Amino acid sequence: MMISAWWWALACYISAVEGRVTSHLYRQLNSNAPPGITYTLPKGSNALISVKSTTSSSKPYIQKLEPIRSGSLTNKRSVAALLGTHQRSVGGVGYSNVTTTNAYGTQYATESFWDGIKVKLLLDTGSSDTWAVAKSFQCIDYAGGFIPQDACSFGPSAVEKFQYGRTEPVSHMYIQYGDGETVSGPMGFSDISVGNLTVNRQQVCLANSTYWLGNNVTSGLLGMAFPSLTNAYLGDGDDHEMGSAIQYSPFFTSLVEQGKIDPIFSLTIDRNSSSGILALGGIAPATGLDFTREVSMDMIITNLIGVPAASYSYSFYTIIPDGWYYDHTTSTKKIPYIVDSGTTLCYLPPNLAEAINSAYSPPAVYMWMYGAYFTDCNAVSPLVAVILNGIKYWINPQDMIYRNMVDPISGLCMTGIASGGAGPYILGDVFMQNALSIFDIGQAKMRFVPRDKY
Ligand SMILES: *[C@@H]1O[C@H](CO)[C@@H](O)[C@H](O)[C@H]1NC(C)=O
Ligand SMILES: *[C@@H]1O[C@H](CO)[C@@H](O)[C@H](O)[C@H]1NC(C)=O
Ligand SMILES: *[C@@H]1O[C@H](CO)[C@@H](O)[C@H](O)[C@H]1NC(C)=O
Ligand SMILES: *[C@@H]1O[C@H](CO)[C@@H](O)[C@H](O)[C@H]1NC(C)=O
Ligand SMILES: *[C@@H]1O[C@H](CO)[C@@H](O)[C@H](O)[C@H]1NC(C)=O
Repeated sequence: MMISAWWWALACYISAVEGRVTSHLYRQLNSNAPPGITYTLPKGSNALISVKSTTSSSKPYIQKLEPIRSGSLTNKRSVAALLGTHQRSVGGVGYSNVTTTNAYGTQYATESFWDGIKVKLLLDTGSSDTWAVAKSFQCIDYAGGFIPQDACSFGPSAVEKFQYGRTEPVSHMYIQYGDGETVSGPMGFSDISVGNLTVNRQQVCLANSTYWLGNNVTSGLLGMAFPSLTNAYLGDGDDHEMGSAIQYSPFFTSLVEQGKIDPIFSLTIDRNSSSGILALGGIAPATGLDFTREVSMDMIITNLIGVPAASYSYSFYTIIPDGWYYDHTTSTKKIPYIVDSGTTLCYLPPNLAEAINSAYSPPAVYMWMYGAYFTDCNAVSPLVAVILNGIKYWINPQDMIYRNMVDPISGLCMTGIASGGAGPYILGDVFMQNALSIFDIGQAKMRFVPRDKY
């Protein structure tokens, strides 16, 4: 199960394709927008806060990711789900009681160094803070009660301090992830290395209090999204008033600012938890890529979770697909989706999720305890594609049914398509297993290359 070898390969470079979104389309988007959401057209790389390209280095730093068993059935770890999800308030219990099953979800770990100390971190493109658990942390349960450290199931960590001390003025991180997990602790500055690249003096958190459904492997998380999603607050304690929030430069932004790489990274993850590759500053090598169907799409600025800074700067890696194809039907509603490696399933608007799940044979049924649909483990899944710039990105039928995620009572298997309630909607690992995802921050583009068969 554990693969920790470094992965080297020749990277192939893809030339950027211009894929403009017209103002006409934007008008249409705004008229279809869910309540409270408006779209603004990004102004190319100028619109990117604190990102500049100072290097002509063409060598990507490539790191093989480690697939790991997760402590919960699915992960919806990105902050994405935080304020938007509806289904959780309906169900009320989140995913917290799913942990008793012996099935496992997919998570990806990346070997990292914190002031030179080795620590395995979860890779999350749906959040921005980087943290590791402190040796003397307090594990808390869902209700906030103190429980033994073991119950949080972190991997080993020898991280104990910040090489460069606390932030000035003193600040702390408080974050609640989409699945209800919470992490807090003091913030300071340390050198963080991933894929043989080091950010000097990165602002990070030494978590001293966590409600966490761990996997026994990772001891923290590496957040790859933009500054507007960081969660630092002035002072100590676990206060998290918007008024005391202070945005900072997260890991990837710092890496680019410090001139270590070009403002781009890419990710391939392989189905069945077999492996994944992160390439910082370039394109990840992968098998089964169909470059003739590459697309390039604008990264969208849109406020999906009610964080003020997210209305005028980049937050999540967000795109607007043309729609979905399933079972000879095409839905062309234009809605933003987050590209998020920290989320296992794809989360679609309720009607569409219901329609696709009904197209399985036998039809899948919604189980609120999991916030997901389940069907016979040998069901025939419909042919499903998400349409990106006119190109159908097929979801391999293998990814449409999670045969290792079985509800112990009914014996049914979880499907790959879930309802995202009122949003935000997410292209999670189910999609990412079928494409090379290129986060081309310098050009304000998300680029994809299909790889549904490999
Ligand atoms: C982590 O280890 C504990 C104790 O060994 C075990 O009970 C638990 O099931 C493990 N969790 C995972 C996700 O492997
Ligand atoms: C999860 O917890 C809720 C509330 O405690 C309970 O109603 C539900 O039956 C539980 N689900 C499972 C699968 O145990
Ligand atoms: C965690 O660190 C904060 C400083 O940010 C401190 O105020 C708090 O008491 C610590 N909590 C625990 C449980 O150690
Ligand atoms: C990391 O960089 C060092 C120094 O440049 C080099 O010696 C080493 O081989 C690199 N390691 C990997 C795994 O690339
Ligand atoms: C993934 O799992 C499916 C069914 O569980 C199997 O048919 C397929 O061969 C596996 N693929 C890989 C790449 O291991």
